[in-house]
Amino acid sequence: MLSLLTTLLTLSTISAALPSSPSTQSSTSFQPPLIIWHGLGDDFERDGLQEVAELAKATNPNTYVHLIRLSDTGSGDLQATFFGNVTEQIAQVCSQLASDPILSSAPSVNALGFSQGGQFLRGYVERCNNPPVRNLVTFGSQHNGISEFQVCGVTDWLCHAGDALLNAGKWSKLAQGHLVPAQYYRNPEDMQNYLQYSNFLADINNERDVKNATYKENLMKLNRLAMFMFEDDQIVHPKETAWFAEVNGTSGKVTPLDERPIYKEDWLGLKTLGELGKLEFLVAPGQHMQLSKRFLEWTFRDYFAPVEGTSFDPEDSEPDTVLVKQPGY
Ligand SMILES: *[C@@H]1O[C@H](CO)[C@@H](O)[C@H](O)[C@H]1NC(C)=O
Ligand SMILES: *[C@@H]1O[C@H](CO)[C@@H](O)[C@H](O)[C@H]1NC(C)=O
Ligand SMILES: *[C@@H]1O[C@H](CO)[C@@H](O)[C@H](O)[C@H]1NC(C)=O
Repeated sequence: MLSLLTTLLTLSTISAALPSSPSTQSSTSFQPPLIIWHGLGDDFERDGLQEVAELAKATNPNTYVHLIRLSDTGSGDLQATFFGNVTEQIAQVCSQLASDPILSSAPSVNALGFSQGGQFLRGYVERCNNPPVRNLVTFGSQHNGISEFQVCGVTDWLCHAGDALLNAGKWSKLAQGHLVPAQYYRNPEDMQNYLQYSNFLADINNERDVKNATYKENLMKLNRLAMFMFEDDQIVHPKETAWFAEVNGTSGKVTPLDERPIYKEDWLGLKTLGELGKLEFLVAPGQHMQLSKRFLEWTFRDYFAPVEGTSFDPEDSEPDTVLVKQPGY
């Protein structure tokens, strides 16, 4: 069974790699714009991010790419990856996207989230989704939070300044209102504080008693939610958070998403997406955010290709039932 699935996957990957035939270039085909939200310690002006944007355009010509920014300057944008209130940051992004003439007039956009940018884009979908996201792809994101804060590099002053805020306590109003990573801190041994004080994650994951129906409704509108976990991630603790799994810090036991109440009781619509074959758990080789050009190209071709407007779209009618798929390199 597994080998048959692998064969099917290989075939679909190969066919996706072939140049599109003239018939798929019909006038009804639509190239969704792409929005990208970068990770901690990055900014929209960095060469690496510009290269990713160029690669997206080279892979799917005519893609309009928007790099999400929380400031008009690179240094301000970088600072906002460490400091700020994530609720306010997402609201800022909602108005940024809604006021972009190209994005706001598109029937849908695709979204690519690197590391923390992934759960923030999910927050965008749940809270605003205007313009609506079609395919959301996240790389090494902390969908189920982090249970340890990242160790700062010696010269990483912003990171050290963030650590200083933690001295007030990770559940303090100071940390929850101003330190970005604290707002997705989640330790299974400390759920009471988390549910009471988490400024972002507990809310966006609908973990509190009162669930927000809009979050679920919006997330279920996704055509595909693809979550990549880095195989050798040593930055994010635990790395399985990229797949929405929970890890017991003492025993090391991993509870996959589909065994958790958030899925079984469908607090977010993830179960619905899963049953429709729209939820994908994928592995990216290597360390956190060590993405090769080839791997990104494969992703862009698979997830951010043009959409057929009125004609038959095999992707919509034939859900992919494979939960774990790993591209062949
Ligand atoms: C649910 O989320 C939406 C979108 O952010 C918001 O407008 C609404 O007030 C929230 N509802 C509740 C009950 O919190
Ligand atoms: C974060 O911002 C929201 C919206 O302004 C506010 O309601 C909330 O209290 C803030 N959170 C903290 C912990 O300051
Ligand atoms: C984690 O595992 C330990 C040892 O097996 C257990 O005592 C503890 O209750 C577990 N924690 C949670 C949150 O399930």
